[in-house]
Amino acid sequence: MSPTRRDFIINTAVAGSAMSLGLHACSAGPRKLKILVLGGTSFVGPHQVRPALERGHEVTLFNRGRTNTHLFPEVEKLVGDRVDDLSALEGREWDVVIDNSAILPSWVRRSARLLKDSVGIYLFTSTRSVYSDLSRIPMDIDGPVYPVESWTEETEGSMGYGPQKAAAEREAIAAFGDRALIIRPGLIIDVRDMGEWYIHLLENGYTGTFMALGPDYPLTFKTFLEGIREGVESDATFTWMDTEFLQQQRVRAYSHMPLWMPAVGRNAGFNRFDLTRTWEAGLTYRPLAVTAKDTLDYHFTRPEERQARLRSGITAEREAELFSLWYSRT
Ligand SMILES: NC(=O)c1ccc[n+]([C@@H]2O[C@H](COP(=O)([O-])OP(=O)(O)OC[C@H]3O[C@@H](n4cnc5c(N)ncnc54)[C@H](OP(=O)(O)O)[C@@H]3O)[C@@H](O)[C@H]2O)c1
Repeated sequence: MSPTRRDFIINTAVAGSAMSLGLHACSAGPRKLKILVLGGTSFVGPHQVRPALERGHEVTLFNRGRTNTHLFPEVEKLVGDRVDDLSALEGREWDVVIDNSAILPSWVRRSARLLKDSVGIYLFTSTRSVYSDLSRIPMDIDGPVYPVESWTEETEGSMGYGPQKAAAEREAIAAFGDRALIIRPGLIIDVRDMGEWYIHLLENGYTGTFMALGPDYPLTFKTFLEGIREGVESDATFTWMDTEFLQQQRVRAYSHMPLWMPAVGRNAGFNRFDLTRTWEAGLTYRPLAVTAKDTLDYHFTRPEERQARLRSGITAEREAELFSLWYSRT
């Protein structure tokens, strides 16, 4: 395997590029929707906007006009700032709003309160990180979420990502009640699948809370790596080192070994969510191999300096050191 492909396998999910959560063609929606997307021009947003337009819906984007401004020239773009300028949203009506861009609860508080009487459904892109304890197997969607203590605009920035998103969810629900739709993705595998699913959910009037995870239950590291290997037609071989050894060598889960999360302790259920509700609501997945191939193809279209900057996990030198230790031990 060439260094590029080796790096690619390690980096695939971390690169934030396309991997898979998908939907097969859904039946024609009952009517054309007016969709407001808060954000829409970075990672997840474009993959919601494209299927929405393809299915004949009317889309409006709201952002500051800084990120990927070349995207969607045919779409209405409202300019403002979630921090202090929502005036472009005043006096307007939409069927649904997709809120991708909010991390802070005050952002959701302001937009949800402003839109609650002029928009039908508020879809908030949350995260699996809202769970304070992932030790259950299987994890279910109603597992324990960070308690939302009192926060202010001065203190919310120091709450941490999970608690911030948990508080932001509450703000959406406080304003929209049972018209709120909360989606909790893990590390997004194929953003196209998730975006298509969003449109399916909105066309069919879903509300409530759903995980956006998969493709399998449980998703093992082995399944994941083998899917990528098949997609990129690699001849890579895998050596399986046990958790104890890697922990002794201070190889940290997720950061040093991207996507690897040992199923123990408080994270035992991290990759073991019961996805029945999600699947019943129509989330399907492209094969991992397709996602991997498309991601690699996409990677090679990026400028050379971006390709060269792709880094994650341990270095090749550190990996060689671990192999040497592993084989001398066994
Ligand atoms: N990546 C993952 O694996 C993962 C996993 C779990 C959850 N999530 C969640 O998914 C979401 C990812 O969003 P994304 O970045 O891909 O969404 P996006 O909708 O594609 O892009 C973010 C948008 O927000 C706009 N924006 C940023 N700051 C703004 C501000 N102050 N006022 C108005 N607009 C603003 C940006 O445009 P301008 O710069 O032009 O304003 C951009 O259009 C986040 O909510 C994250 O928590 C991601």
